[in-house]
Amino acid sequence: MSKYDELKSHLSSNQYTWLVTGVAGFIGSNLLEELLTLNQKVVGLDNFVTGHQHNLDMAVADAITNDGDKSIADNFTFINGDICKLDDCKKACDSVDYVLHEAALGSVPRSIDDPINTNQNNIDGFLNMLVAARDAKVKRFVYAASSSTYGDHPDLPKIEDKIGNPLSPYAVTKVVNELYASVFARTYDFKTIGLRYFNIFGKRQDPNGAYAAVIPKWVASILNGEEVFINGDGKTSRDFCYIKNTVQMNLLAATGDHPDAANQIYNVALGERTDLTELHTMILKRIREIRSDVKESEPTYRDFRAGDVRHSLADISKAQKLLGYAPTHKIGAGINEAMQWYVDDLG
Ligand SMILES: NC(=O)c1ccc[n+]([C@@H]2O[C@H](COP(=O)([O-])OP(=O)(O)OC[C@H]3O[C@@H](n4cnc5c(N)ncnc54)[C@H](O)[C@@H]3O)[C@@H](O)[C@H]2O)c1
Repeated sequence: MSKYDELKSHLSSNQYTWLVTGVAGFIGSNLLEELLTLNQKVVGLDNFVTGHQHNLDMAVADAITNDGDKSIADNFTFINGDICKLDDCKKACDSVDYVLHEAALGSVPRSIDDPINTNQNNIDGFLNMLVAARDAKVKRFVYAASSSTYGDHPDLPKIEDKIGNPLSPYAVTKVVNELYASVFARTYDFKTIGLRYFNIFGKRQDPNGAYAAVIPKWVASILNGEEVFINGDGKTSRDFCYIKNTVQMNLLAATGDHPDAANQIYNVALGERTDLTELHTMILKRIREIRSDVKESEPTYRDFRAGDVRHSLADISKAQKLLGYAPTHKIGAGINEAMQWYVDDLG
């Protein structure tokens, strides 16, 4: 039995209260779905700056489908609030066991366009959440860090304790989050875990807007019969990680009982890299299996994007060793599930 199966079995007969910030977003709504399915109580905090009410509705509906019991919807309490307001954070942390802090302004290009707003949400808001969670004496504070923290460090695969200089304002905010979390751990004996997400993908990741991530953006273009753009020569590679692996890491990080598990940073990835041309081929093939009317097409290559690193690949051995992380989905299996969802949702 995997560590995660053991945990799920424990949670199904032991109810805790979890705070998920950014719950109306992509990763937050998938955490909500899994926690409700496991009969946990969930408090969600979001201000809908990039999140959506329909993500909350879908997550609750999917949890009911998974579990078969409509009453699990009553285990969810939503707070429409802002992490930039300390009072909202305090209200959300009240009587909570575990915090999964996802709320932030994502996207490297967004941070280059508007560094002040990114700083306010990702650093001031993060500090508010740390203070509120510390004062509420939560068992553990798990937060969304980022692979962008590796910056210009040349080594591959990326190992948690070797980072370079950040290459964007967004990366600076995620480095500062890690620094604050480690200072809170040392100064206040507070338990934190930072999850350095690599490129996460899966259902409910937003295909719309100027700062959409690559996979949902391409899927929307393919389904709408529009041109797909690849920044650079297509050889740029990433360690794409399916959302179900990410959800597993969050729950293992919150509850992991290895004596060295807490006050650590972990890579959250698959441990394999895929280049952008391969990714495009994989996505188009899967969509055409589901929707045979979608035409075969070549992507258009254009200039490299400012702030992007060339290759990214994670060493996931620390998470395997200290948390018992065992990814259930390789990229192909993740793309198969995610494409089915996008075709059902977007047409
Ligand atoms: N998706 C990825 O590949 C990836 C990679 C690295 C790190 N991350 C980090 O993971 C976290 C979740 O990312 P996501 O992809 O789900 O993004 P998302 O934009 O879908 O979700 C973020 C959520 O946070 C909410 N939010 C933002 N600022 C807020 C504020 N001030 N108060 C309350 N709510 C606020 C948004 O409305 C949204 O619902 C973020 O911290 C992001 O930086 C994501």
